Amino acid sequence: MACDLHPRRQTPDPTPFNPWSTPVTFPTLRPLVLSFGIALVAAPALAADGKAVYDGTCSVCHAAGVANAPKLGDKAAWAPRTGAGVAALVGTVVKGKGAMPPKAGNGNLKDDDIKAAVEYMLAALK
Ligand code: HEC
Repeated sequence: MACDLHPRRQTPDPTPFNPWSTPVTFPTLRPLVLSFGIALVAAPALAADGKAVYDGTCSVCHAAGVANAPKLGDKAAWAPRTGAGVAALVGTVVKGKGAMPPKAGNGNLKDDDIKAAVEYMLAALK
């Protein structure tokens, strides 16, 4: 009967099940983050292969920085340009700019190919 009179005195279960008590650290999440990142990179690559377009057309100037083309992966050279956003940069490549001819001189490229190449070049800055 003592228990009925003092129900609140019962000690609570010292280890209640708590799914959030497992420490969630970066190593725990790393496989998730990595696979998400790969999915993000792989998705546009299915539509048009940015690396292939870059290697085939853009690298001619952008690998070595011909005619002051901003080099692949050169953060300082790209910093003043990336703020415009992918769509604006694609538009610039389609129209041409300075020493870069319209469509980078490759009339076979579709806007999607150029977009993929621009995204590839921007990804190289991260
Ligand atoms: C004939 C050489 C050449 C080729 C080929 C070339 N580029 Fe360029 N690119 C340049 C030069 C030079 C600039 C700098 C233009 C300027 O700022 O006057 C430039 C600038 C850019 C910019 C920055 C534009 C801006 O608004 O500042 C992007 C994006 C770009 N190129 C993407 C590409 C892509 C994508 C390809 C391939 C499809 C490509 N380029 C091929 C020479 C080239």
